[in-house]
Amino acid sequence: MTKKDKGTVMSNKITDANKDSLSRRGLLKVLAAGMLAAAAIPLIPHLGSTQATATGTGRKKMLIVYYSFSGNTKYIAEKIREKTGGDVFEIETVKTYPAVYSALTEEAKRELQTGDLPALKKNPPDMSSYDLILVGGPVWWYTVPTPVMSFLRKADFAGKKASAFCTHEGGIGKYFPHFKEQAKNAVVLEGLDLYKPRQAGKGEVDKALDAWLGKLQNK
Ligand SMILES: Cc1cc2nc3c(=O)[nH]c(=O)nc-3n(C[C@H](O)[C@H](O)[C@H](O)COP(=O)(O)O)c2cc1C
Repeated sequence: MTKKDKGTVMSNKITDANKDSLSRRGLLKVLAAGMLAAAAIPLIPHLGSTQATATGTGRKKMLIVYYSFSGNTKYIAEKIREKTGGDVFEIETVKTYPAVYSALTEEAKRELQTGDLPALKKNPPDMSSYDLILVGGPVWWYTVPTPVMSFLRKADFAGKKASAFCTHEGGIGKYFPHFKEQAKNAVVLEGLDLYKPRQAGKGEVDKALDAWLGKLQNK
């Protein structure tokens, strides 16, 4: 079993078996591994080698939904907006998370363990007019961050195509399978994960996004 797998969190609950890997030490280990790898690992998107770009007529109408605590996922959401002309919906929590990193990770862990998901400032928008809904967030404890879980709990994709993108520091765990489980009634397409996107080499993020968006345009 890999470190990634050990971080598994099914649905919104953390089982006893997962508690150890969800400990602060476990997270720090993963993050430390990510930092060590930072110099060696280029941006690693989980996608194929399609290089098509999202251009031309007949483009899908996109909604870009995202949550971002410290700006990395927002940076990606903005880039996607520039590339696709899609509409943007930011997920915002009613409560303010602690600014201190250790307190934030503890609070996020508590929410996951108890299923006490944060209330959101706004309900999901009407998604009926969109062809494709992209939902972004940071990896939190190897899974979907609790604010995005709150969004998914309220949203009904009703047969819409949806895809997830996430930013992280080296351990995505079960982000994509958990997203798929929680995006109710969605036809879930291939997602994209971006490792420390604001520190990636020049052009790498754009290249990964163009390839991913190009693929999605053709689905
Ligand atoms: C509560 C919390 C938990 C995190 N858990 C993970 C994790 O399990 N794996 C990982 O690679 N990075 C983890 N990170 C790092 C973030 O995923 C990463 O910094 C992300 O790019 C932050 O995105 P944002 O700037 O949009 O908030 C965690 C960060 C926080 C605050």
